[in-house]
Amino acid sequence: MRLLVTGGAGFIGSNFVRYWLANHPEDQITDLDALTYAGNPRNLDGIDGRRHTFIHGDIRDVTTVEKAMDGVEVVVHFAAESHVDRSIDGARIFLETNLLGTHTLLEEAKRRGDQIKRFHHISTDEVFGSLTINSVEKFHEDTPYDPRSPYSASKAASDHIVRSYFHTHGLPVTISNCSNNYGPNHFPEKLIPLMIINAMRDIPLPVYGDGMNIRDWIHVEDHCAGIEAILTKGRIGETYCLGGNAERHNIDVVKQVLALMEKQERLINYVEDRKGHDRRYAIDSSKAKTELGWEPKKTFEQGLKETVEWYKDNEHWWKPLI
Ligand SMILES: NC(=O)c1ccc[n+]([C@@H]2O[C@H](COP(=O)([O-])OP(=O)(O)OC[C@H]3O[C@@H](n4cnc5c(N)ncnc54)[C@H](O)[C@@H]3O)[C@@H](O)[C@H]2O)c1
Repeated sequence: MRLLVTGGAGFIGSNFVRYWLANHPEDQITDLDALTYAGNPRNLDGIDGRRHTFIHGDIRDVTTVEKAMDGVEVVVHFAAESHVDRSIDGARIFLETNLLGTHTLLEEAKRRGDQIKRFHHISTDEVFGSLTINSVEKFHEDTPYDPRSPYSASKAASDHIVRSYFHTHGLPVTISNCSNNYGPNHFPEKLIPLMIINAMRDIPLPVYGDGMNIRDWIHVEDHCAGIEAILTKGRIGETYCLGGNAERHNIDVVKQVLALMEKQERLINYVEDRKGHDRRYAIDSSKAKTELGWEPKKTFEQGLKETVEWYKDNEHWWKPLI
């Protein structure tokens, strides 16, 4: 089987390409990526070129998308603008890529009729809004959408257009909404790699606001396994929430990074809070567990330790990016 992976040179996409090729030796991947600032060909170093075809192109471009879908049965759509802070500075590219780019892919998949057996859309828990710190409430598949940043609004819009192609056109779609990922190949603007790299460089670690915001962390390999479970067992038309069972205050994550690296907490620098900063995300993945037999395996402590080691061992990867 041939899969089209969009955004396969980015953080999660490149981990997924590696994961899928390792676990599905008969399969081939076409990888469509525009190589924006977040896309990095080095993320694909060492991948077998006989099973992986890279197309440098944009999901908003109809001709490129037509070519990329040749021979493809399953689309796994990661490509997106993904950084909340950048969406606050300028939202247009988020709407263009995340909404209109997704629409271009949907149109091409629809045009191909029975050829496309599944269109899987990768989304985020941020579409559900923000939870209060002290509640036990968690996001689940039936939580009403309440996106609060331009990024999450663009992802929410993309989820809606994907679902509309299922209901209106019968396109065989699935959607996953996942919590915050971490692991290798994570671009150094995001919390965990930024903290690791700044600690390595002995420069201040900027923490937004009071540092008490909570995220539910999932190791990227667990996310890849969750997507695999959906691609192989997920019911068409359904949405699955994937979480890491690892809610942590940002400040505790930062302190844990410093402890693992044997660095002083005086490097922590509280900075002005992000505009509209969502307070807490948490995911209830019981649908994925019951229906697909999936649950995250790696503990946050183990995953974070491995991630710190990865950044220590891969200075050649992150140095050109800072
Ligand atoms: N990182 C997370 O914690 C997280 C959590 C849940 C969901 N997601 C979703 O997972 C997906 C991947 O996230 P990520 O963290 O790997 O992002 P990333 O920013 O690391 O990678 C995005 C990739 O998409 C490519 N891309 C961007 N615009 C494109 C375009 N117009 N055409 C083709 N390629 C384009 C980039 O070059 C890059 O390789 C996104 O859809 C994101 O919303 C991310």
